[in-house]
Amino acid sequence: MSRLQHFGWFFGRGFGPQGWGRPDHRWNYAWQRPDLYQQSARELEQAGFDLLIIEDALSLGSPSTLRLRVDSAYGGPKHDPLLLAPYLFAATTHLGVTPTVNAGAYAPYLAARQFATLQHLSGNRFGANVVTDVKSARHFGLPELTHDAAYDRAEEWLGVIRRLWHSWGSGAYVGDVDSGRFADASKLDAFEHRGEYFELDGPLNALPFDEGAGDPVIVSPGGSGRGLAFAGHNSDVQLALAPLDAASVRAYRGRIHEAAVANGRAPSDITILFVVKPEIVDSPAEVDRVVAESEHPTDDVLRSVLAAQSSDLETDLTVLDLDRPIGPGVFGQHVSQGTIANLVGRGGSLKSDTLRQIATRKARKGRFTDGSGFVGTAAQFADFVEELGESADNDGFIINGDLHPVTLHRMLDRAVPELRARGILRSSFGGGGLRANLTDF
Ligand SMILES: Cc1cc2nc3c(=O)[nH]c(=O)nc-3n(C[C@H](O)[C@H](O)[C@H](O)COP(=O)(O)O)c2cc1C
Repeated sequence: MSRLQHFGWFFGRGFGPQGWGRPDHRWNYAWQRPDLYQQSARELEQAGFDLLIIEDALSLGSPSTLRLRVDSAYGGPKHDPLLLAPYLFAATTHLGVTPTVNAGAYAPYLAARQFATLQHLSGNRFGANVVTDVKSARHFGLPELTHDAAYDRAEEWLGVIRRLWHSWGSGAYVGDVDSGRFADASKLDAFEHRGEYFELDGPLNALPFDEGAGDPVIVSPGGSGRGLAFAGHNSDVQLALAPLDAASVRAYRGRIHEAAVANGRAPSDITILFVVKPEIVDSPAEVDRVVAESEHPTDDVLRSVLAAQSSDLETDLTVLDLDRPIGPGVFGQHVSQGTIANLVGRGGSLKSDTLRQIATRKARKGRFTDGSGFVGTAAQFADFVEELGESADNDGFIINGDLHPVTLHRMLDRAVPELRARGILRSSFGGGGLRANLTDF
């Protein structure tokens, strides 16, 4: 029997009209209402998933490229995921919900109080996916910090949030009904924080967390050296984006573990979940068909791949000649290097590859069985999960997808029974909340 791993769902297109343009969008998909997300959250919990991470982007991008984001709803609109969380908690009992929160956008006192409130309301199931994007700074009247400075600000932000959470010292909450004493004010920490990015005073106007439950869970997705250092210092869960072969998974885990130890923590303090987007089909013959069908994409397919990429890259790739190299100059200086590297792919070149070659690589699908991609039967997917658990000591996976009911069922209907049968996926929860679920195996 294999050992258990942790599973999460990354609601990767965020709280918006994902599925737009797909034939299944008409599946009564009222994306701005809570009902379908509540249904999905219940199903993820029933499936044995520990947490749901909700992606977010605060901004619709630069004024000159708004069209790329909204014409086909590739990048917006998006509603605030923090406000979706209480609806999901109301629909579930064990599932952790961790909305994406930009450390530059939520003032720390407000964030500390809202997160504390959600931790209480949810029975210790709240977490925050802390991100540092700076492109939305202009919406908040804030300066656009550099990459590393944004991480420095996030460190200070989280540090002072934690201080606020713990500003009710030991014994401050009395709760003695007989004597009528609710709290001991002398044990509240009225600290004054005067930092590089924030100035504020404590204590927090919120009750401390339940004994033993711990603070809300901190998730982080950044993969740069600075991002990994941030995770080593602060995170309970790292959302890891890396090639999914054993050597790469081991190397990534090693870097996070080093960062944890450098910050006086134990490697086991951070659950590392690798992002995967499987395409699960019914039979090996179906795998062959899906892979073969993607081998020679038509120009229409290439254009739709490029349209989806254009939104994140704030650059209209659909108007460029497919048979010429695009060259690095086509992207504005503000466009993320990581997003550009992701477009070009490993071993590709922006200077010499034609746009057709780049888009074709993106459009092609590969198989779990030979490591060329993520199409497979449920058994092949389970082999892949089991193998990385054994050979790379992997903690688990975050499955990237929208919360459209069709997407969820395509994934869960086949994979869950197979993973359960092999003892890789939990079939019950302890009841202690998200932090407890992440550490109970
Ligand atoms: C899997 C994954 C998920 C992410 N989700 C978000 C998100 O929801 N919102 C956001 O603003 N940034 C998101 N990011 C971007 C990171 O927060 C970060 O800004 C970016 O990865 C650059 O940091 P880095 O150079 O340390 O990787 C995500 C990154 C990854 C790898």
